[in-house]
Amino acid sequence: MKSMKACLVQSTVHKSLMNQIRLQSTNVPPKTGILMLNMGGPNNLEEVGDFLRRLFEDRDIIQMPLQSFLGPIIAKRRTPAIQERYNMIGGGSPIQKWTRRQGELMCQILDKVCPETAPHKPYVGFRYAHPLTEDTLEEMETDGVQNAVAFTQYPQYSCTTTGSSLNAIYQHYASKNKETKMRWSFIDRWGTNEFLVKAFAELVKAELQKFPEDIRSDVVILFSAHSLPMKTVSRGDPYPAEVGATVNLVMKELDYSNGYRLVWQSKVGPVPWLEPATDKAIEALVKRGRKHLLLVPIAFTSDHIETLHELDIEYGDELAKKVGVETYRRVPSLNDHPIFIKSIADVVSKHLKDEKRISNHLLLRCPMCENPKCGQTKNWMKIQAAKV
Ligand code: FES
Repeated sequence: MKSMKACLVQSTVHKSLMNQIRLQSTNVPPKTGILMLNMGGPNNLEEVGDFLRRLFEDRDIIQMPLQSFLGPIIAKRRTPAIQERYNMIGGGSPIQKWTRRQGELMCQILDKVCPETAPHKPYVGFRYAHPLTEDTLEEMETDGVQNAVAFTQYPQYSCTTTGSSLNAIYQHYASKNKETKMRWSFIDRWGTNEFLVKAFAELVKAELQKFPEDIRSDVVILFSAHSLPMKTVSRGDPYPAEVGATVNLVMKELDYSNGYRLVWQSKVGPVPWLEPATDKAIEALVKRGRKHLLLVPIAFTSDHIETLHELDIEYGDELAKKVGVETYRRVPSLNDHPIFIKSIADVVSKHLKDEKRISNHLLLRCPMCENPKCGQTKNWMKIQAAKV
């Protein structure tokens, strides 16, 4: 029998070996970097001003005369009110926390199911908040990532969201007049992924169960997505149709158990946007006697100000009481729901196993697009996706 001392020595050697292996494995450059793209949100109250300034200066999302002059002025004027909203949800947006967690969990699955492209490392690239896309691109190049997957965190494509993030990637390399060392591919939409649909349906089912049985079938399901200016829709932006496709599949999965509508939230400014607006729809439904409502954030993958403040506080606490809603519930955001994590891993693993590194959809510009950046970005992506 081994002596106690020998066992202790052996265990110490084993531990130090394991530590060495762990240390070495963290130094291995990631073969595949998954760049999770989103608009982001301010991490604290101090970041709100810069977040808004970047947003109002981005012509991919908002176009106004004298934008580089007026954008910062509007951002500054709106900062205190928006800070107040972030203050009410804990002092900052949780979107970075959720995106990082989603990425970590997704890459654990990818390392198992796609050994040929492992190790996979998640990166976060935000359009208007830290970590900014351009900083993350530098980090990925420095890390020696071989394959870069631009993975939009918006399941449904809009030129104002995913398109803007992709334009930012192209602009980064163009402004530095520098070639990327990474081999790029692009995931631009995934709103009909079967596990995404299942995750939404599971959450809706669970929330419906919380309504008393005698009113459950009377509950109206309101799928709420961020609205878009009608000017953007009229250019041929695919977002409204793609959000509708997700809604339809979720309702099919639920066997069309309840009456439902797709409504649009977060309109800003006086110009016309996609309607019906979520708040107006709530009010109008109550007038028609439909007072039991279930809100579903259908175009967001994690909690942020539009769920925690707009849906929960502005509509759930304030508007619902004011207009006489009897039961108001909101389906939790996808966050780290296991079926949702399965869905993003499914989207990326299928993409990594596919020869095609860019979709035909993504190469098509909106029929009425007037933004030269879109053409330049699509051209750049096409060249990247053709590189060996
Ligand atoms: Fe859609 Fe330019 S606005 S491609």
